[in-house]
Amino acid sequence: MGKGDDLIARRAAITPRGIPMVTSATVASAHGATLVDLDGRELLDFASGIGVMNVGHCQPSVIEAIREQATKCLHVGIHVATYEPYIALCEKLAELLPHGDQTKVMLVNSGAEAVENAVKIARQATNRPAVICYTEGFHGRTLMAMSLTSKYGYKIGCGPYAPEVYRLPFPNHYRYGDGMSEAAFVERELGRFSDSLVNSVAAEQVAAVLLEPVQGEGGFIPVPPAYLRGLRKLCDEHGILMILDEVQSGFCRTGEWGAFQRYDVVPDISTWAKAMGGGLPIGAVVGKADVMDGARPGTIGGTYGGNPVACAASLETIRLMEELQLGPRATVIGQRITDRLLALQKRFPSWVGDVRGLGAMVGVELIESGDLHKPATELTADILQGCASRGLVILGAGIYGNVIRFLTPLVITDEQLDHGLDILTEEFVKAVERR
Ligand SMILES: Cc1ncc(COP(=O)(O)O)c(C=O)c1O
Repeated sequence: MGKGDDLIARRAAITPRGIPMVTSATVASAHGATLVDLDGRELLDFASGIGVMNVGHCQPSVIEAIREQATKCLHVGIHVATYEPYIALCEKLAELLPHGDQTKVMLVNSGAEAVENAVKIARQATNRPAVICYTEGFHGRTLMAMSLTSKYGYKIGCGPYAPEVYRLPFPNHYRYGDGMSEAAFVERELGRFSDSLVNSVAAEQVAAVLLEPVQGEGGFIPVPPAYLRGLRKLCDEHGILMILDEVQSGFCRTGEWGAFQRYDVVPDISTWAKAMGGGLPIGAVVGKADVMDGARPGTIGGTYGGNPVACAASLETIRLMEELQLGPRATVIGQRITDRLLALQKRFPSWVGDVRGLGAMVGVELIESGDLHKPATELTADILQGCASRGLVILGAGIYGNVIRFLTPLVITDEQLDHGLDILTEEFVKAVERR
């Protein structure tokens, strides 16, 4: 038994089984797009700690920023005293992610916490209770976030869930398109949204509609641009706030700071976490100033939100993203991955159902016998297992676990990327040939 196996056995003995363990990899250290496991084996990281390490593992300048801040002040709490890194980070986020004429920002510790606060702010700003969300959506594991999350596997037995949550089918043209053109499909789905304001919940009761511009856990599904634009109009007509959850799609992943900038649609509120901290836990709620100020003093915040060390890490992470031009790089990475996946689709059209994404947030959905209603869940697991055995850390997604998602660090070299894609292609071919 290696050191890695030993650690996994200790994990099984001491941690509850409810915490997901989606790969059997262990890690002792990491740099760039490389992980080194407990037995000294180098692994190639196509997961980035679930979309966190966009700037790569252990960037020296991020470590230095952390070290420097840690020597000055580890914690004081923004309720207690005002410190520069918190304010500087809020100012930077407002500059990069403007929400209309005046933007305000609050800092939190995680994606779920950002979602919780976004909903609290929207409710207070509108004086309305309800939130509309979507199937296949994932928003985190706290009570409100979990209530807004779709897939039962993430929440079974954890109810009762928060009330006043209404759910519509996500406008996934591939899955729900019924052979319609995207334009006709979008029209139908926007009609469904309008109908829901008549037969599910009155518009005057709806504080906000919440969605991921590119669904993450749901299977890397970009919302059709015309749908988001149409939804924006409907929100304005009905006084409903639009909350975009950019926790997974944010910070250069889709080619811009936020996916909303790729759509040219401005949300009223947006939620951020993951990549913004460069590995430290930090998140943000960004929104139009008048909406953000709808929250009464004392109703939002927390002891640790915007911890000074996490703020320093985030500021340096963002500076590095600018210096390394990771937005444009994401577009190049995404194209390189997409080209390879489309070649696989051409070769195995009955197994490769859909190749899709935005920037470097790319997913491939695997199906059986060319039937999109037959998810190839086992094949996907087989391929992921094959990749893991060859040192490629890569994750699945999708409600049926039949999507392979690409979340490489955006500092990955072309050579590393091609090497990982070679492994994936070979394992895909082997797994298909076994059937
Ligand atoms: C879109 C989205 N929202 C919210 C969350 C929850 O974030 P966290 O795990 O930091 O609470 C996630 C996590 O994967 C996510 O992908």
